[in-house]
Amino acid sequence: MFDRIAGRYDFLNRSLSFGRDVSWRKRVRRHLPEDKPIKIVDLATGTGDQILFLLDGKAEISHAVGYDLSEEMLEVGRGKIKEKKLEDQVSLETGDAMACPAADASADIVTISFGIRNVLDVPTALLDMKRVLVPGGKLCILECSVPENKVVRWGYLKYFRHVLPKLGGWVSGDAAAYKYLNKTVETFPCGEAFCSLMRDAGFEQVKAEPMTFGVATLYTGSRPMEEPV
Ligand SMILES: C[S@@+](CC[C@H](N)C(=O)[O-])C[C@H]1O[C@@H](n2cnc3c(N)ncnc32)[C@H](O)[C@@H]1O
Repeated sequence: MFDRIAGRYDFLNRSLSFGRDVSWRKRVRRHLPEDKPIKIVDLATGTGDQILFLLDGKAEISHAVGYDLSEEMLEVGRGKIKEKKLEDQVSLETGDAMACPAADASADIVTISFGIRNVLDVPTALLDMKRVLVPGGKLCILECSVPENKVVRWGYLKYFRHVLPKLGGWVSGDAAAYKYLNKTVETFPCGEAFCSLMRDAGFEQVKAEPMTFGVATLYTGSRPMEEPV
């Protein structure tokens, strides 16, 4: 499905979120240490947007690798990396978030933006993210969520169920893709339910930061310095 919409994916993201996705992506930067060069793994990287926003921040990123299953999304991303002459610093490779090709304890930060909802086995993916992080390293998961406030939720669901699938289908030429978006967001665990999944996978200091009335949430957690025996 992502192969089919890859060419218009960035434009659709910006327009259907009214540009809000930019500030959500920038919020991830706040969780990056700025006192040492860091290595980043970005899962379900798509067209590489999350990595590019992180590179624009204050943290010194020595290397970033993005993994995705969609070759077309990766190709669009590689084009952007080449255009910005970032090939030495960033690579985009084929890889599954449930069994990431990155070595154990090889990343200071693992990110996954608007991707975890698409992964078939979330607990397995979370365990694999912990494996890839260095002890003390941080996981940042950005995902769509459903607002808790009843009035906001009512308006949001009207837009999400009736307007967004039509607009997205019309611009991308793929109505099924945007019906899928609306269904997966409404059924995916958010807020405390998702924090609980992260704790079950062994992450500590787990937090949820709702943004824009809760239509997106940034979840963070750390790999413990020492694993329980
Ligand atoms: C909504 S897009 C998000 C792309 C990007 N992270 C962003 O912020 O724009 C979801 C991406 O998840 C990828 N994906 C789905 N399941 C995956 C998996 N198991 N492993 C890696 N990527 C996956 C899709 O190919 C797609 O590119």
